[in-house]
Amino acid sequence: MQTETLAKPAAPAPLPLSPAAMIATAFSHIREGDTEFRSDGLRDFFLYRDLGVAEATNGLVIAQLVKANLPPEEGTGWHRHEANFHIVIMLKGWARFMYETEETLVQAGDCVHQRPGIVHYLFDYSPDMEYLEIVSPADFTSIDMPGPCAVPPPTPWA
Ligand SMILES: [Fe+2]
Repeated sequence: MQTETLAKPAAPAPLPLSPAAMIATAFSHIREGDTEFRSDGLRDFFLYRDLGVAEATNGLVIAQLVKANLPPEEGTGWHRHEANFHIVIMLKGWARFMYETEETLVQAGDCVHQRPGIVHYLFDYSPDMEYLEIVSPADFTSIDMPGPCAVPPPTPWA
């Protein structure tokens, strides 16, 4: 009579590193004042402050502060991004987005994960709005898209 012995389970193999994880990255510490808010970013009604992460990660990830510069008029228009990862963390004030057909108020303390390809429209924001945006890759692109629905008007600044 034969008996089968159960093999002792092998220790799990270490997870293989993804190509992204094998990109050499550097330590980085950007202090207040090391980088300035610039007006030559994606939207002319916002100012952008780079936080040094794109350089430190060889373009794997960008972290930037975005703040209101001009009152909302047309907003961003409907668009999507070519990105693998994209979060928005509201630091001050608020912004109103359309995420597909869902009107979404994002207030200070909130975090939004914008899943890849989601069609959206930032159409309103407070004068003090400031958010931290973290996106991979750093050179993500924005593509104008047809909108699925109407967008509410922005709130006039006092
Ligand atoms: Fe966007």
